[in-house]
Amino acid sequence: MNKRQRWATRIGLILAMAGNAVGLGNFLRFPVQAAKNGGGAFMIPYFISLFLLGIPLMWVEWAIGRYGGKFGHGTSPGMFDKLWRNPLAKYLGVIGLAGPIAIVLYYTYIESWTLGYALYALFGKLPTVAKGASLQEINNTFGSFLNNYAGFNSGSNIFLKPSVFAYLIFLITLGLNVFILARGISGGIEAFAKFAMPTLFLFAIILVIRVLTLGSPVDPNVSVLDGLGFLWNPDFSSLLNPNVWLAAAGQMFFTLSVGMGAILTYASYLREKDDIALSGLSTASLNEFAEVVLGGSIAIPAAVAFFGLANAKNIAASGAFSLAFVSVPAIFSFLPLGFLFGFLWFALLFFAGITSSLALTQPAIAFLEDEFKIKRKHAAIGIGIFIFIFAHISIFIKGALDELDFWVGTFFITLFALMETIIFIWIFGPDNAWEEINKGADIKIPKIFYFILKYVTPVILIVIFTAWIFQNFGSVLKEASPGKWIARIFLISFFVFTGILVYFAFKKEKKT
Ligand code: TRP
Repeated sequence: MNKRQRWATRIGLILAMAGNAVGLGNFLRFPVQAAKNGGGAFMIPYFISLFLLGIPLMWVEWAIGRYGGKFGHGTSPGMFDKLWRNPLAKYLGVIGLAGPIAIVLYYTYIESWTLGYALYALFGKLPTVAKGASLQEINNTFGSFLNNYAGFNSGSNIFLKPSVFAYLIFLITLGLNVFILARGISGGIEAFAKFAMPTLFLFAIILVIRVLTLGSPVDPNVSVLDGLGFLWNPDFSSLLNPNVWLAAAGQMFFTLSVGMGAILTYASYLREKDDIALSGLSTASLNEFAEVVLGGSIAIPAAVAFFGLANAKNIAASGAFSLAFVSVPAIFSFLPLGFLFGFLWFALLFFAGITSSLALTQPAIAFLEDEFKIKRKHAAIGIGIFIFIFAHISIFIKGALDELDFWVGTFFITLFALMETIIFIWIFGPDNAWEEINKGADIKIPKIFYFILKYVTPVILIVIFTAWIFQNFGSVLKEASPGKWIARIFLISFFVFTGILVYFAFKKEKKT
């Protein structure tokens, strides 16, 4: 049997895991969620979710991953099969294998926009608007630029018409991902994270300093401090609204990248006695710093400083994409050296994106390597071709991207988190699970987490899952554009196909 690949250094491992977690969610999704859900008061459910959901799930995933790696399994089908000796277990693991790749099919495309925009910014090719321009003007200029880039303006036609540049940059982005992955865990992912993560933090800190020194750029009565106030002044009445709590829990899943299967794979390259308690916590802390401190201090405060409170609320309400590709570049175009800040902004998002897409793609590669003994390079290229082919659904079909995200990005995450928690804590057993988490630990985890893992986390997961179904199921099935149906049929076929692969992988294993 081949020796399993390993992480070369602990700092490299933590940077790769942080790269997995720190993504577009930290700089775009978080500030929008906080602004929409009570500002400073949002931080109460948010930090409660961190302790009752985020950190426990982080440990669960690291522990399942390290445990599976011991048996040569890098993905959830093999891991679930070891934790639960039931022929069904491996099929439940299909979600943690097919899910991440389904996300990559649109995530890589959005990631490529940030690269395209970084190049546009660097070469001064982004549009500009005069300082003091109205939101209307900005939306017209930057909004139509984005529409042309990604080809949203195709009328009632179900096909989108992205620009040739957007398509080329997508190919380059995908190629870069495959190139890094083909070099393996320590030579590819870890080496890249060691360069990309410090660069990301540096760019973010430069941007934070630039934004916090804006003062009152337009109206002497409105300063960037009002922007921070907008995000942080608590509106306690919002705590009575259950949706605020659901939003906080959802953001916690999303930002820590738990519930997807990606952490399992990264953790499978640990050695049996490597620490997970402290490393998992360090990863979560780096992510929270990037999210709360850095992510909270760039886009929204700048938007308030330039456009005032009321307009910033509208900007937050119009969502993460419009924040990233419309409002922020417009703001930077007002500033001296604006092209440079624009470049830093999009390069930051690109690094955040690519370290996440690497993590999302590795499970599929690990599956081919571990279960079918395919060579790493061939596996990386094969998966690359698969992504190339099926990403066309999100690039060209109207509504498909959102539909994929709706299912895989929220529904399957909660379902998978619930399954892995039940299998690990309840079926594998709370004492075995606790022992796995604490094996090799460099810190002593307070005993209260034993109780949290056993009762609190699973119950919260069940509540969230049920609430999700009540909130969404009714409306989902009513909407049925052709693009959505194409995405749904693709997803079902893809999950069935992965299930068949899992069947053959384990049938073969039994014989040998
Ligand atoms: N955490 C990422 C972000 O904040 C997004 C994400 C969710 C992710 N799940 C993932 C990234 C799994 C990689 C792997 O944007």
